[in-house]
Amino acid sequence: MADRYLSFAGTAPGRFLTRRIGLPQPTALHRWSAERPSFEGELLHLTAGKSPLDGPDGLAAVLGRTGLAVRAESERPVAVVLDATGVTDIDTLAEVHTALHPVVRSVARSGRVIVLGAPLDTADHHQAAVQQALEGFVRSLGKEIGRGITVTLLRLTDADAAESTLRFFLSPRSAYVSGQVIGIGGGTEVTAPEDWGLPLAGRTALVTGAARGIGEAVAATLARDGARVVCLDVPGAAVELESVAGRLGGTALALDITAPDAGARILAALPSEGLDVLVHNAGITRDRRLVNMAAERWSSVLDVNLASVLRTTDALLSAGGLRTGGRIVATASIAGLAGNAGQTNYAASKAGVAGLVRALAPTAAAEHGVTVNAVAPGFIETKMTAAVPLFIREAGRRMNSLGQGGLPVDVAETTAWLAHPASGGVNGQVVRVCGQSLLGA
Ligand code: NAI
Repeated sequence: MADRYLSFAGTAPGRFLTRRIGLPQPTALHRWSAERPSFEGELLHLTAGKSPLDGPDGLAAVLGRTGLAVRAESERPVAVVLDATGVTDIDTLAEVHTALHPVVRSVARSGRVIVLGAPLDTADHHQAAVQQALEGFVRSLGKEIGRGITVTLLRLTDADAAESTLRFFLSPRSAYVSGQVIGIGGGTEVTAPEDWGLPLAGRTALVTGAARGIGEAVAATLARDGARVVCLDVPGAAVELESVAGRLGGTALALDITAPDAGARILAALPSEGLDVLVHNAGITRDRRLVNMAAERWSSVLDVNLASVLRTTDALLSAGGLRTGGRIVATASIAGLAGNAGQTNYAASKAGVAGLVRALAPTAAAEHGVTVNAVAPGFIETKMTAAVPLFIREAGRRMNSLGQGGLPVDVAETTAWLAHPASGGVNGQVVRVCGQSLLGA
């Protein structure tokens, strides 16, 4: 069901009325489209402390390749990048305030504030304290800045390894990702694509649960980025699946992912060179409070959402089904991070996904050259959430910093960034796509 409140709040009388009564004022977000694929305007590049990222091949060069006009001063920036990697003590932390205090008001609607931090140095508790302080700062700014602007903290040591991430966050593709802290570094080799417009050209991606909803959007977005897509869904959804795969020039694989031999059947259906991107998106809910939850509701949810993810991942990795440079992206949920009444089974399965990702990431990188990350969607406008009763649906939509639900494409764009060949340094991350939901924040 369309978000009519969002449309109304965007009109002149809507803006007037919502401001007068003190209602939420969500801003229509600028998302990627073929007509408006990138931001246009100025990027304000600020620094706090003495940055270790300076130098000719450093941050300025990477920012210069985003297509935005990089400036040291700007009256109406579409994005602000504050390099706080050199913040090591209370005095340099104060420079974060000095730098951003005068400019936050001038950032354009649906724009970006990106703070760059350094990894926490456990041997220097002053550095660790003020670098951790940046997390509270970023999460608070995300909640107060408004106007559809997102705020993100990226921890990095090497600007080149962060190029795909900076490009993602400095583009309309990241419209619904806010309040996140993402670490970049380690992981696997970072390969710049020949064509940044078609980063997945020549690569094969398999998406589970691709017949509809978020999975369909993921398959479409990976195909847009040049991938050959293999769309997997249950045999009962074969008609929709064929239609999605046909539209994307991909292939359909009708298969229940919980089948014990699912891994082997996927391997048999893949091209001989194997897979580059594996997206575990298939998922189900069977909600009941624990007191009323029959064992079958528990086992079916755990089987689809977690056990099959473990089984197929193991089967593909051990058989060499994922090529070096491969990417695994699993689907968690903010319910798995925050907990949700009536969802002990679902939240257990999704928290399990986060655990799997964090534990497997270093070994998969070392042994297979493969990264493992998760997306954790919040309230996404799908058939599933359209069926939620009106008042709960309205609460779900508004209880985040952007005051609106996300779209399947928001999860898809985040998946595409994690699947990018230049995202090899992003590993073991659980990235929430939730407009900075208050749940589990
Ligand atoms: P959906 O119900 O619209 O689509 C899920 C797809 O997975 C369906 O096409 C279904 O047939 C397929 N599937 C289910 N069991 C399968 C199996 N055993 N084998 C193969 N395919 C199977 O769901 P939606 O909303 O698109 O969600 C996609 C993922 O995102 C799920 O993992 C869900 O838990 C997660 N998620 C969704 C949120 C939302 O707000 N819609 C929020 C948080 C997480």
